[in-house]
Amino acid sequence: MSTPTLSFPNHFVWGASTAAYQIEGAWNEDGRGESIWDRFCHTPGKIENGDTGDVACDHYHRWPEDVALMKRLGLQAYRFSIAWPRIYPQGRGTLNQAGIDFYSRLVDALLAAGIEPTITLYHWDLPQALAEAGGWPVRDTAYAFADYAETMVKLLGDRVQNWSTFNEPWCVSFLSYQLGAHAPGLCDEKLAVQAAHHTLLAHGLALQAMRAINTGIKAGIVLNLWSLESVEDTPASRALLERVWQRDQGWFLDPLLHAEYPLLAWQEREPVAPQLQAGDLKLIAQPLDWLGINNYNRQLFDNQGQRLRPVPGAEHTEMTWEVYGPGLRHLLTTLHQRYPLPPLYIIENGAAFQDQLTPDGCVHDPRRINYLREYITALREALEEGVDVRGYFVWSLLDNFEWAFGYSKRFGVIYVDYPTQRRVIKDSGHWYAQVIAQNGIAE
Ligand code: FCB
Repeated sequence: MSTPTLSFPNHFVWGASTAAYQIEGAWNEDGRGESIWDRFCHTPGKIENGDTGDVACDHYHRWPEDVALMKRLGLQAYRFSIAWPRIYPQGRGTLNQAGIDFYSRLVDALLAAGIEPTITLYHWDLPQALAEAGGWPVRDTAYAFADYAETMVKLLGDRVQNWSTFNEPWCVSFLSYQLGAHAPGLCDEKLAVQAAHHTLLAHGLALQAMRAINTGIKAGIVLNLWSLESVEDTPASRALLERVWQRDQGWFLDPLLHAEYPLLAWQEREPVAPQLQAGDLKLIAQPLDWLGINNYNRQLFDNQGQRLRPVPGAEHTEMTWEVYGPGLRHLLTTLHQRYPLPPLYIIENGAAFQDQLTPDGCVHDPRRINYLREYITALREALEEGVDVRGYFVWSLLDNFEWAFGYSKRFGVIYVDYPTQRRVIKDSGHWYAQVIAQNGIAE
């Protein structure tokens, strides 16, 4: 094997990510309760093409094949999420043994294949029963989450070391309660701000509960973050970037890492400010063993302060997200300068393109390979600049249900032919396997 031209530190972890609702299917099998995403998808007009996650990649039944594919790629770690309503169909109360068994078997199979499981407790599928009791804008939901988190660590903590509470709390709150694009599809800023506070609170409560019963786990949270840039550097553009940073990213990072909300954004949101109780911020700022980052693109602003979408002259993915690797490096170095950070992991990064299964039985996706190469190279540069990133997880292992876009966006390094559920490793999957095997990128 040729020596890589860009090599990574020993023990750097290479993995792939998925999320329960996007791949599992079996939405009403074996006692699983309804989630807000079932309800949202079954409501006409919410999802492109009327798609639902009812079947998705049928991973609930095909997981042995999927673990075998992970092994073929040489994955060292696999990040997946637990569907809360498979464990507690009503969100709390009675446990569903069949749901527990499913994840327990999956964990055993991963370990047997030499793949480290990394569990996300909440990737957006809130039990519908809790939504009916008010969902994330209601404080009690945070306590229900902490109980569920504790249960999972009790059940799987003997075998699983790496845990994260939430995937992308910004999406859980603002995208879902203010912008209405994700379940439950509401458009109310006040509810969104309160939901954001309760996801942070739930995170803090859960970390306490999880660690109280198992001191050996490594626990963190995963945020979606962007590098913020402007076409010209002026006092006005800097002020704008700071404002956007505080509103969208500092709103989560500052409570987690500084035990306070960012001042400017707080003042701006004064009329809809969240209700806090004494001690909340201290609870939220539990020490993190690691911080996960999901990054796909940057946000670039013109000199009128408008976000450029698309960015003229740039390459974009099917999501109309700009392909711009240096943004990842900029994001990482900015975080490093602004915050006292725990070790970082890139938990999601990847691209959707219009892939096709060709008559040669392959999926040729050179644009995805270029995208991954560009971002992984930028990540390597950030390491050079002293940022402590310990691992990289590609989004996604499989093509899957891309939320409001249904099945129209393919992010996998493995192609899924939905009518037959056949899986085909794309060229990018073979390329990624080589990166893993060489712990670096070859020319
Ligand atoms: C992230 C989500 C993930 C997937 C990618 C494309 O925001 O965490 O589930 O949809 O975007």
